[in-house]
Amino acid sequence: MAVPVARTAKALRRAVGGWRGAGERVALVPTMGALHEGHLALVRQARRRAERVVVSIFVNPTQFGPAEDLSTYPRTFADDRRRLDGLADLIFAPAVEEMYPDGAATTVSLAGPAAAGLEDRFRPTHFPGVATVVAKLLIQAMPDIALFGEKDYQQLKVVTRMAADLHLPVRIVPGRTVREPDGLALSSRNRYLSAEERAKAPLLHRALQACARAIRSGTPLAQALTQARRTVISAGFDLDYLEARDAETLEPVASAGKMPLRLLVAARIGTTRLIDNVAV
Ligand code: PAJ
Repeated sequence: MAVPVARTAKALRRAVGGWRGAGERVALVPTMGALHEGHLALVRQARRRAERVVVSIFVNPTQFGPAEDLSTYPRTFADDRRRLDGLADLIFAPAVEEMYPDGAATTVSLAGPAAAGLEDRFRPTHFPGVATVVAKLLIQAMPDIALFGEKDYQQLKVVTRMAADLHLPVRIVPGRTVREPDGLALSSRNRYLSAEERAKAPLLHRALQACARAIRSGTPLAQALTQARRTVISAGFDLDYLEARDAETLEPVASAGKMPLRLLVAARIGTTRLIDNVAV
């Protein structure tokens, strides 16, 4: 049987309320659809930790900038629903008007990891949009746990901070980044890459790994970062940032003494913007 779909917050609440009333744990996996193995790994992880799994599929307009790909973002609902067969108990797929009714005027305002000078520097309206929709989803679904991928590392930290600050009774659980065999992190946007760009794309992850190795073996932080930035730029990427940060707060670090660190990169190849990160 195909996975049932709830289109309204009321229908979602009714389903989740029934499960929780019966003592079952509920996990939420928020997505924008165009599901790939990275999303499905989160859903499987959710299955192991909860009796019931809800996957939300909502292309959230407020997290896209005016020049970004909202109108062309892949929408593959029938396919997504098939992929969730046997994995999810419910899909929550609201219309834009359900999430943002006429007159909606409330957003979540952020500091801390959302103002780290990484994605926020290049996409200033992105995290307020993400945090607002995730807050709505968590309040609508009231899950015991919600899963977010490390692929979007800053997002994971923003959401974790927000859930704690707003006292939302949910545990945010991170999921490891799923990669292609050549190291490229799976992303709904990889389908925009031409064959030539696709061939170059894994270099981003390789550069991060080499940089992490260099730092671990004692190369001064600034030198390791400069080398990695050079590698990425000379391969033809337009580099937005490649930085080492405190893995928890995302604050800048002056030296590798303050572990654990996270290396984070964003770079454009052609018209496609890729992000990645690794632990040091
Ligand atoms: P989306 O890009 O669809 O991603 C949904 C979830 O899948 C996020 O938690 C993301 O980090 C995770 N994910 C994506 N690629 C992954 C990979 N290769 N390995 C592991 N996890 C991966 O992120 C969003 O949607 C939105 O911002 C959302 C949180 C749904 C709010 O609108």
